[in-house]
Amino acid sequence: MSELQKTFSIIKPDAVSTGKAGKIISLLEDSGFRIVGLRMTKLSQSQAEGFYAVHSERPFYRSLVTFMTEGPVIVMALEREDAVKKLREVMGATNPANAAEGTVRKLYAESIERNAIHGSDAPETAADELQYFFTAIELNQL
Ligand code: CMP
Repeated sequence: MSELQKTFSIIKPDAVSTGKAGKIISLLEDSGFRIVGLRMTKLSQSQAEGFYAVHSERPFYRSLVTFMTEGPVIVMALEREDAVKKLREVMGATNPANAAEGTVRKLYAESIERNAIHGSDAPETAADELQYFFTAIELNQL
């Protein structure tokens, strides 16, 4: 049996504004995740730019930053066994057109950009992303 692991997730502005946040949180809980940290916030331009800095050379970067700052998001720390990999399975493919049945993006995403949810892509990224949004004191309490 693998160890409990934490990962980081964002319910994006499209899903929050259309009232899908509760359904997404339920789906995550029903998939075995425990919510160990959660906060609603609105990303500033520089927060969104920094968070997605790895994509800064991509053609969709400016549009992605605009989208991620258009309204409130919900940032979460999630825990379960193999959390990073399992969250990405539950989220589904980046493009909802390619997402498997029953996944968050198949159910709730509008497009490849407005795709309802973010999840860390590796344990190292999860640690960085958790630190980006939660204070050291909060992380110690998780
Ligand atoms: P996320 O998993 O948060 O990581 C990067 C985000 O960029 C992705 O979800 C989408 O919101 C967005 N994205 C990725 N690929 C594209 C694309 N081809 N066109 C527009 N947005 C994209």
